[in-house]
Amino acid sequence: MDTIKAALIKAMEAYFDGDAKRINHALRVTQYAEELLKSEAGDYPVVIGAAVLHDIGIHQAEKKYGSTSGKYQEIEGPPIARRILEGLRFEQKQIEEICEIIAHHHSPGKVNSKNFAIVCDADWLVNLKDDYDIRDRGKLSKIIEKVFLTPSGKARAREVYLQEESGAGDYMI
Ligand SMILES: [Fe+2]
Repeated sequence: MDTIKAALIKAMEAYFDGDAKRINHALRVTQYAEELLKSEAGDYPVVIGAAVLHDIGIHQAEKKYGSTSGKYQEIEGPPIARRILEGLRFEQKQIEEICEIIAHHHSPGKVNSKNFAIVCDADWLVNLKDDYDIRDRGKLSKIIEKVFLTPSGKARAREVYLQEESGAGDYMI
């Protein structure tokens, strides 16, 4: 595993302190983000940094507001991510961009970069089945077009949820 990703994952796992649900979610989103990076022109350290740490504010949101709602995670996540990224000696510019992605990852439209789009799509690839009724294929097809921001994200979502390509299925790690 490459060193940046390994160090980020180690820090994320330490922060989540055995919370398997959050750790597994971050790992699945990171795996999708890495896959999307093969066909989308994103910046590897920024995308992987944001993917691994995108929900890092969730424990603090629960503690402070009694809620895992996206808006609280967006507030609580960036300062925690910043401390972790500074500890891992990320460049200041990368830290700013990663924190910006984390601060808006439940509010599409405010950040328009490719890096943001990849992280959001990776999160949706994992979350779509929890947030939408995915049994109606016609409706689902429209939802995929609306929700996913990159061509590769849309294509992967169609594979995972509509089984459009051969060999595709639920994508688990
Ligand atoms: Fe997430």
